[in-house]
Amino acid sequence: QKKGFDHFMLKEIFEQPRAIADTLRHYVDTDTLTLRRDRMPFTRKQAVLLRQLTIVACGTAYHAGMMGKSLIQRLARIPVQAEIASEYRYSETLATENEVVIAVSQSGETADTVAAVRKAKKNGQRVISLCNVIGSTIARETDAVLYTLAGPEIAVASTKAYSTQMLLFELIALDLANLRGELSDEELREHLAELLRIPEKMEQILAQKDMVKEFTRRMKDCEDVFFIGRLMDYYSSLEAALKLKEISYLHSEAYAAGELKHGTIAMIDDTTLVVAIATQESVLEKTMSNVEEVRARGARLLLLSDHEIAVPAKAEVWAVPQTFDAFAPILTIVYLQLFAYYMALQRGCDIDKPRNLAKSVTVE
Ligand code: F6R
Repeated sequence: QKKGFDHFMLKEIFEQPRAIADTLRHYVDTDTLTLRRDRMPFTRKQAVLLRQLTIVACGTAYHAGMMGKSLIQRLARIPVQAEIASEYRYSETLATENEVVIAVSQSGETADTVAAVRKAKKNGQRVISLCNVIGSTIARETDAVLYTLAGPEIAVASTKAYSTQMLLFELIALDLANLRGELSDEELREHLAELLRIPEKMEQILAQKDMVKEFTRRMKDCEDVFFIGRLMDYYSSLEAALKLKEISYLHSEAYAAGELKHGTIAMIDDTTLVVAIATQESVLEKTMSNVEEVRARGARLLLLSDHEIAVPAKAEVWAVPQTFDAFAPILTIVYLQLFAYYMALQRGCDIDKPRNLAKSVTVE
């Protein structure tokens, strides 16, 4: 049932505040602002002994995994690698002592991710999964499963599964940081309190849908869309470019902003829309100097930020509600999903069933 929405994708984008709130309530005791220990995957001893984490996933789930890498390294200071499951399964992976593997999958049935799980298990590693579908193959075959409480995702393009996967990584990173003494109980409470405000901030973005739609009406004839950002904003760029490609068939690419000048900037002219994501304080100035470079080459510009920034002439700006830098991607993605949706709508695409794609990729 689309419940009054034109497409499942739009319905699922709008369900995100509810999906985030449900997932939070499952893992967080909202009275005491603590994590429910029996629902988290690491004991204090396991957390302290942990030396390395490897995250395996495909597509959008892999992008959530990259966020996980950033969050866990930043907050818990544990080395993390994120690997595309189809690569991991055939690569010369070295299993190290006290390493744990985390598999991320909405369906829990993706063939390459299942194979990656089996490889890690064969290597004797502990494997944890983040899944949305209860009782799915990956959920059954892993040592511990953390469910995203997104509810059934029908549209081929993943939206609410992605944001709830990011949320789980935020919770895991906070938990590991706290258990390893990198984050005090008081700081943990502050972070959890801020996460509880995310659904309301998502609503503020969803209320801007008409503005997003109007912008796509003006941009529908552009030939290429480049998403740029640094650090976690780069990972949001990857997800935004994938979302746009898969449902609108418009050529789009994601670039780490500092990498543009190593070749790709040659492609930029006034038929290109550059979407710059600038939420990470530590690299804000650097990203803005890259924005200036693309502006000077005539690109159309859209800027997403939750910081006070000097806006270049003729750039469109979408304000992201303020939050901790580590949590900004869960908000920016809502704008980027709406952007992909309305671009596809303007271009007359079959949004819920894009060509050549299946919801669950159970063959290699
Ligand atoms: C993109 C999309 C895919 C999936 C990928 C993994 O919108 O939905 O990239 O994320 O096929 O699927 P799961 O998470 O079911 O393993």
